[in-house]
Amino acid sequence: MDLKAKMLRDDALKGKTIVVTGGGSGLGKAMTTYFLELGANVVITSRNMEKLKAVKTELEDQTGGTVLSVQCDVRNYEEVEAMVAASVEAFGTVDVLLNNAAGNFISPTERLSANAFDTIIDIVLKGTKNCTLAFGKHWIDKKEKNKVVLNIVTTYAFTGSAYVVPSAAAKAGVLAMTRSLAVEWAKYGMRFNAIAPGPFPTKGAWDRLLPGDLKEKFDLSKKVPLKRVGEHQELANLAAYLVSDFSAYINGEVITIDGGEWLKGAGQMNMLEEIPQEMWDMLEAMIRAKKSK
Ligand code: HXC
Ligand code: NAP
Repeated sequence: MDLKAKMLRDDALKGKTIVVTGGGSGLGKAMTTYFLELGANVVITSRNMEKLKAVKTELEDQTGGTVLSVQCDVRNYEEVEAMVAASVEAFGTVDVLLNNAAGNFISPTERLSANAFDTIIDIVLKGTKNCTLAFGKHWIDKKEKNKVVLNIVTTYAFTGSAYVVPSAAAKAGVLAMTRSLAVEWAKYGMRFNAIAPGPFPTKGAWDRLLPGDLKEKFDLSKKVPLKRVGEHQELANLAAYLVSDFSAYINGEVITIDGGEWLKGAGQMNMLEEIPQEMWDMLEAMIRAKKSK
């Protein structure tokens, strides 16, 4: 099986303009690359303009598409409004907002300062709110329809998770916002969906979630029933579908792409995976023996 195979037909996103926050690295860059290959114009935004400029050159050369780099800290509403204006000025209209930018690190919660907790909430929840509000108001004001907002959350948005509490709380808030606005702003011609990825190795995430030899100590592929981590193109395929017109009837949904990871942790008897096949005859006999008494 070729996990890097590209799913949608050529030109599936032709004519669309897509804003990807945090589009200069990791999963944001992977999704940006595929959107460009499918014919979209992409605006990539983050705090680091040098990085964004280099990625623009790299991806334009690689795909022949058009990239606009805009420096924007999603925590600052004025910078977000300026990013919306720059995107509209460059391309006339924006069709898709992909809220991908995030901040995160592992820590026992009692070690966090109030500012550390706020920093994560501000990037993830407030940043997603800022971009969503600014684009939403713009689209409503201009009476533009057929718009899509796609939010990247995590599976611990449903379950919560120890040691990443600010991120879990913020991602849960983003998921609630996704579902709420899917209903409220449908009348304005907007769709809202989310993707909950499992482990997809990126430098940004791995440096902060598995520093040093934690990468070896906690091999995340072992937590996944499919026994592997995600390939970036698999996520890009799903994201491209969800921002395309092919998904026009999907609204308010969160799609998990994690190889079954979070459910493995949830099912009460899932630990029986550890029972060797040859033990099952004996176990069955023991259970049947009890029933007949
Ligand atoms: C405790 C910490 C800390 C740490 C920072 N702080 N790192 N506290 N442990 N490891 C504290 C600081 O002391 C400060 O509080 C406050 O947090 C803000 O830190 P700054 O460095 O000033 O913030 P800033 O420059 O804005 O950087 C934000 C950041 C940084 C989140 C801390 O890591 C960053 O830029 N991250 C962006 C990329 C990222 O995180 N990518 C991973 C996404 S992965 P005080 O009180 O001292 O002022 C992801 C995956 C989910 O989301 C699921 C995977 C399976
Ligand atoms: P990443 O490369 O660190 O991506 C985070 C991006 O956000 C960076 O490009 C960063 O750019 C940008 N960013 C951070 N703070 C910002 C701010 N204040 N304003 C604007 N941009 C900001 O990590 P990733 O793994 O690709 O993560 C991408 C998304 O996937 C995140 O939403 C993450 O929560 C989610 N996710 C990842 C995984 C995984 O396994 N990798 C699993 C589940 C969910 P600058 O530093 O230049 O600002």
